[in-house]
Amino acid sequence: MFELINLCYLRHRYTYWARHGVKGPNYVDISEFISKFTDTCIGNYRRYGRIYGAYFFTNNWLIVNEPELIKDIVVKDFQHFPNRYDMNLGQTGLSSALFFMRGDDNWKRILREELNALDTDFTYENLNQCQYLNAVIDESLRLAPPLASIQRECIRDYKLGNTGITVPAGTNIEFQPYVIHRDPELFADPDQFKPERFLKPTHHPYAYIPFGGGPRLCVGMRFALNEMRMCIAKIVHKFEFTLAPGFEMDYFTGSILITPKQVLVTIKNC
Ligand code: HEM
Repeated sequence: MFELINLCYLRHRYTYWARHGVKGPNYVDISEFISKFTDTCIGNYRRYGRIYGAYFFTNNWLIVNEPELIKDIVVKDFQHFPNRYDMNLGQTGLSSALFFMRGDDNWKRILREELNALDTDFTYENLNQCQYLNAVIDESLRLAPPLASIQRECIRDYKLGNTGITVPAGTNIEFQPYVIHRDPELFADPDQFKPERFLKPTHHPYAYIPFGGGPRLCVGMRFALNEMRMCIAKIVHKFEFTLAPGFEMDYFTGSILITPKQVLVTIKNC
């Protein structure tokens, strides 16, 4: 009953998007939002497309999962969006999902061959040159971007590309790497773990944004990538990991931070 009254109040009070012909759920169902964040994002994308309006408590939100518009917002028109609405900096650092992605395990063999071919100890310089290692990291951050959503606060009224939408000052814009990275028009077979797609990438540069973009890009990006390269190289070089029989990876999806629920693996010396 309380929920119904709440819903009627929200529908009556917050009408900006509906009045301006912007589709969307128009209010955010807090219980769904908390328990199934990523599922809700994918569901909304399927229902409303890449751009839709919502309200979160008393704030106007516009979800923009269109790479070309993201580029405008984070780079070209940065002066309209210098701030983030909110930022939770609890990165997982090393993508713990990495070794356990479903799909063809051939990639582990190719990665080991690339690492074995290095004739010195692992260094910042030589790991940086390892194309396949970098592709494996990129692909794992595509499928499981630790930060599922990135925000910007609009500080002046803004015309959003040629969508006809005017974003009023005070609106929060949200991009959802989790959704964009799984958009089948941007990445073929989006649910498959295929590092090869990053060897000669053809995607729009703003279709892959695990670290955000523009002047507010993650300041820890280089550090995080170097850390991942070194850790993964050392582990893959010495050990072989396989998911325990019958075990399927599952992630906590009730937060903008994506982390695996548990990992059961078999480890062998190489
Ligand atoms: C895989 C690891 C990481 C991922 C995926 C990640 C992702 C992100 C993302 C998406 C943002 C927001 C960017 C935007 O709004 O455009 C961000 C911001 C930030 N990250 Fe990271 N991050 C990672 C590791 C780190 C590490 C290791 C550090 C620190 C050593 C760090 C420090 C920061 C800081 C300080 C900001 C705010 C930058 C600003 O406001 O200008 N991050 N990160």
